[in-house]
Amino acid sequence: MMVDIVCVAVAAVIIVSDLVEGRVWEDLNLHPQHYPFFFNTNPGVADECHQDPNCPYKIHLDRDACWGYESACPPGEAYSQPSCPGDARGWVNTKKEQRETFYKQADFGYVKKRRSELEVYCQPEQEVDSSLECSDHLRFCRGRNLWLDLRHLTERSDPVLYHTDVLMKGQIGGHCRVDEELLKKNTDMISFLQSWGPEMRHFQRIDKPVARQSKQCDIWVEKPAYVMKLDAIGNMYHHFCDFFNLYASLHVNSTDERAFFNDTQVLVWMTYQYRTNFAPAFTAFTENPIWNLKDVSGKRVCFREVMFPLLPRMIFGLYYNTPLIWGCEGSGLFHAFSRHMLHRLGVFGREGIVDDRVHITFLSRQTKYRQILNEAELAQNLQKNETYVVHRAVYSHQMDLHHQLRQDQWTDIFVGMHGSGLTHLLFLPDWAVVFEIYNCGDPNCYQDLARLRGIKYMTWEDSSKVTPQDEGYHPQLKGAHEKFTNYTFDVAEFQRLIEKAVKYVKGHRGWQNLQAKPHSTPGHQEL
Ligand SMILES: *[C@@H]1O[C@H](CO)[C@@H](O)[C@H](O)[C@H]1NC(C)=O
Ligand SMILES: *[C@@H]1O[C@H](CO)[C@@H](O)[C@H](O)[C@H]1NC(C)=O
Ligand SMILES: *[C@@H]1O[C@H](CO)[C@@H](O)[C@H](O)[C@H]1NC(C)=O
Ligand SMILES: *[C@@H]1O[C@H](CO)[C@@H](O)[C@H](O)[C@H]1NC(C)=O
Repeated sequence: MMVDIVCVAVAAVIIVSDLVEGRVWEDLNLHPQHYPFFFNTNPGVADECHQDPNCPYKIHLDRDACWGYESACPPGEAYSQPSCPGDARGWVNTKKEQRETFYKQADFGYVKKRRSELEVYCQPEQEVDSSLECSDHLRFCRGRNLWLDLRHLTERSDPVLYHTDVLMKGQIGGHCRVDEELLKKNTDMISFLQSWGPEMRHFQRIDKPVARQSKQCDIWVEKPAYVMKLDAIGNMYHHFCDFFNLYASLHVNSTDERAFFNDTQVLVWMTYQYRTNFAPAFTAFTENPIWNLKDVSGKRVCFREVMFPLLPRMIFGLYYNTPLIWGCEGSGLFHAFSRHMLHRLGVFGREGIVDDRVHITFLSRQTKYRQILNEAELAQNLQKNETYVVHRAVYSHQMDLHHQLRQDQWTDIFVGMHGSGLTHLLFLPDWAVVFEIYNCGDPNCYQDLARLRGIKYMTWEDSSKVTPQDEGYHPQLKGAHEKFTNYTFDVAEFQRLIEKAVKYVKGHRGWQNLQAKPHSTPGHQEL
């Protein structure tokens, strides 16, 4: 009798404390600028915030804001405001068309298109059934109660990486009605990292419902899962293409408040252990350890909710292979990605800190090729100017990613040679300049990325003022190759270009706002 009373009392306390505390608002964990958008796509949560006196986000309620893929999103209220100051070079005839093309190719318009393409590939007949939905060409899929048979992997001798033959007929499926015709029609992109065709073409109906207690499931994954085929994980340019596409996919999948939650399970589609200096970037998406195929090989794995995100090497994909129209810049999707990553990784901006000097970061390469031979001389010359802060950054594989991103936020002009380290441009402040000191005959790669991110791109202008060490020799191919040598740059010309960059930075509204802000608070103490 005594015992019962205690139990009841405890239960009552839990219920009461639930009522008192309500939702833990901090669990949403979004970048502060993203709440107005989030609330408008989740009106139920917005109502809760209205009613809860403890909701810390009230200032973000009832604002005119939408991501851009919602059914009614007036352009003036959309997250993205890309601009097209340049000529479209014959792609389209009007400014409006030019802007719309950019929006569809590389911005939230891309997300909107993928969402509109979603079709049911496997139809549930009852509540407990499985389901599978995909966009055209199986570039994005999501499913419920899906079954994956990986028992055969224990017999496979070669390691899995970029393979398109991991699954055979019937090794993926669900208890639902498969639309064979639709599936066949969309299984037309079979190269690695192009689509989920290599896997989904083997999708079959299975007889028994897939559920937590099913005997046919050796592992039941209750958390929302992301199955991911990754590009080259040791290279920042390539690997951040994975993260970018995952972020875009969260928007493609977004239907409720859990769209950005981090209690998820990532399974990477390779048998190698996932190990890279960039791994902390995954904490923006999951707080759980990353699984690879080794972790589940020999098992039949069942997923309550699973997403197969957009892939890095899609034809007309995002980030590279993007057939980017000329003259436009500033994709909101890239901007939102940058903010989201920095926020989730706990990297803060410079707001509230008084410092009107221009911060110049030299990205110093550690490789055999493409070194700036007179880097020290170029830097020392700039250091003489007291309005500059010059920093030499060596982003080795030992250096913590958080530290690198913090340095990015403290950079107004980022100077570096052609190379994947320039991908840091994604995380520079909005007013920054990325100065690819020499593009080695490959001008579009980082120029396009800078355009997408909406920051200023510069490169060396006068080829008579740069001296290569030699012609450059490709280690495998015969003949001269610009990417395979070192360079010396003219000091005065370099200074001239930096001054041009400084002028851009100081003329940018973002920089001017940053300078104005600390002073606008009366009694603000200088840090
Ligand atoms: C996951 O989100 C929770 C709630 O917002 C947060 O407290 C936690 O630190 C996050 N985990 C990671 C690894 O970022
Ligand atoms: C995709 O969206 C649905 C609806 O919001 C959600 O239930 C599911 O968890 C999401 N999937 C993943 C893997 O996040
Ligand atoms: C480039 O410079 C580095 C450092 O001085 C040197 O180790 C390397 O051999 C040089 N590369 C070529 C192709 O000369
Ligand atoms: C320092 O840099 C600023 C901005 O580029 C420039 O206007 C100024 O002339 C420079 N000062 C010296 C002494 O070179």
